[in-house]
Amino acid sequence: MHKVLIIDDSDINLTLIKALVLKLGECEPVLFEHPLKALEWCREQVPDLVIVDYMMPDMDGLRFIAAFRALHGRTEIPVLMITANDQKDVRYEALLGGANDFLTKPIDRVEFSARVRNMLALRTGQKFLADRAAFLAEKVDERTREIRERERELIVRISRAAEFRDPETGAHIQRMAHYSEIIARGLDLAPATSRLILQAAPMHDVGKIGIRDHILLKPGRLTPEEFAVMKRHAEFGYELLKDSGSEIMQAGAEIALTHHEKYDGSGYPRGLRGNAIPLFGRIVAVADVFDALTSERPYKKAWPLDEALRFLEQGRGRHFDPLCVEAFLAGWEEVLEVRHRFQDEAVATI
Ligand SMILES: [Fe+2]
Ligand SMILES: [Fe+2]
Repeated sequence: MHKVLIIDDSDINLTLIKALVLKLGECEPVLFEHPLKALEWCREQVPDLVIVDYMMPDMDGLRFIAAFRALHGRTEIPVLMITANDQKDVRYEALLGGANDFLTKPIDRVEFSARVRNMLALRTGQKFLADRAAFLAEKVDERTREIRERERELIVRISRAAEFRDPETGAHIQRMAHYSEIIARGLDLAPATSRLILQAAPMHDVGKIGIRDHILLKPGRLTPEEFAVMKRHAEFGYELLKDSGSEIMQAGAEIALTHHEKYDGSGYPRGLRGNAIPLFGRIVAVADVFDALTSERPYKKAWPLDEALRFLEQGRGRHFDPLCVEAFLAGWEEVLEVRHRFQDEAVATI
């Protein structure tokens, strides 16, 4: 059903045009004698075609078209203006002002039907394209969501692959990722960036897949040679994840490579110093070490919280970026919440 808005100050014309429109079928005429009232209606309703007289007392057809076109989303709707045959100037002005076609007075029935039909066909085409565009946009959104979901799933699986070989538990990965996000937020990073580190941090130790069992799973202290091999997990992780088209994998690669760098340059693998260490690496260093200290491992007991905090304080500017430590401490309440939410036994069954 097409809504056809008809505006004419003469009720005889209104009646005539209404009858002609009804004859076309599938049309619902909406009549107004006053252009201002018609505009009022147009604020709430979207017509499929506007037929407007030129000569009207309060507001002429040209001004009506201008006001109508200025309403949001009304630029494409076809407008027919009714003029007398000799009003050429008016017609030119109307074309410039946004009319699509004209009807001449007195109205010729055949011409009227042809022109109105053409305009309605135009409108049908517009609506079809708009619907199609909306449909496609929705499909694209849906597919994008699916891809993102799969990407997240893939990342969880990659992180879990490392867990099979690593004595560190899934709960450690969850906690350190959330601590990283708390720090990122504390540093006022954009919400999307904080989310990115949350998603990427679980992959920090994925390079441990490349470390031989007798070193990775050795219960006692590593010899210097063994430790040198162990350190290579940073580069292995980077090699595994780098050059990905996925933003999360890219962030994961950077984190894998730099999470053992230390602020004073004494870390590995490259001995980067200060802000030369990528920010994500500096953030994850705090989150990862804090959780490693406060977790029980086969070879050590969990440190009490205050001792771990002292370790962070003492490491400010040496091991850790002072701003990252500060952001971590500022989010202490949330840190405790995360610690409570992801306890070792609870997640080990996943
Ligand atoms: Fe590591
Ligand atoms: Fe870790």
